[in-house]
Amino acid sequence: MGLRRRVLVAGVLGAGAAMLASVSVAEAAELSESSGEPERGTIHRVTHPLPPRGRPLIIAHRGASAYRPEHTLDAYRLAIQQGADYIEADLVVTRDGQLVARHENQLSWTTDVAEHPEFAARRRTKTIDGVVTTNWFTEDFTLAELKTLRARPRTPLPGAAPEPVGSIPSLSDIIDLAREATVGLYLELKIPSYFAMLRLAPEPILVSALRANQLPDTSVPVLVESFEGPSLQAVRAIWNVPCILLIAGPVPADLSLVHQYAAGIGVDKSQVTPAVVERAHAERLEVHAFTFANASLADYRRYFAMGVDGVFTDNPDVARQVVRSARAG
Ligand code: G3P
Ligand code: CA
Repeated sequence: MGLRRRVLVAGVLGAGAAMLASVSVAEAAELSESSGEPERGTIHRVTHPLPPRGRPLIIAHRGASAYRPEHTLDAYRLAIQQGADYIEADLVVTRDGQLVARHENQLSWTTDVAEHPEFAARRRTKTIDGVVTTNWFTEDFTLAELKTLRARPRTPLPGAAPEPVGSIPSLSDIIDLAREATVGLYLELKIPSYFAMLRLAPEPILVSALRANQLPDTSVPVLVESFEGPSLQAVRAIWNVPCILLIAGPVPADLSLVHQYAAGIGVDKSQVTPAVVERAHAERLEVHAFTFANASLADYRRYFAMGVDGVFTDNPDVARQVVRSARAG
């Protein structure tokens, strides 16, 4: 997490309702008018509880990413088969204003973009979240161009095909899959203030897609997450969807303002303690811990015993096994 993101989160936690302009006035007004939701700029409170799924929630982190290349339909499908309550997709923006599933806007780490001579000239050097990086970036490609790339695992996966598997899913692809499989969607807006500076603010794009698909609903619950609190405030100003504020590092002592726009907090598992869970619950905030990567059964049990409400996991099958055995016992 870069300095800018920490400042944004800290600002929201400490300064309350200050709202950055992640959604342009025109976009927000149009969405607000057509949705019948509260007026633009209103940070309305959570008006419905999180969907009644089994607890704790099993959130498939980038899909079943221990077994399949992250953020592919294959990874999401396997997660659903393994019993995930939600499939998690990190979302970044394309040049033509579409949302696609990638953990970051740099493409070379999880695709074969470097092997496409037609895109060689698109390689650029930019500063992302305070870090200078040379790569190919999603915002320089249209969705159609990104669809010509093959997805790759970030690191070699045991048993996975060694060469590119699957393509980059669009948000639309993911929504279609969730509808077909009746599974929840847990959608993270990545570096939203960066995209807003490029006039590609992701919040109205996300809300347009949710609105067009009449989501969330009872069969496809949706949670929106971000490390940037103002982005969640922007979403909730124009659409009634529960949001989860991600917190990097220690959980601040005062969480009293977070419930104004979030239903819960996502916390690094190293920072989760019984006291943190108690404090969050006292503020009516759920606690979702990240990230369980090849964790032991005992590790899950330890966090469940602390009262966490959800776990981001690369291994949904293992998490499901623990939940099942806990219920049986
Ligand atoms: O979104 C919660 C967790 O996924 C944060 O980690 O994988 O997005 O860096 P990540
Ligand atoms: Ca994430």
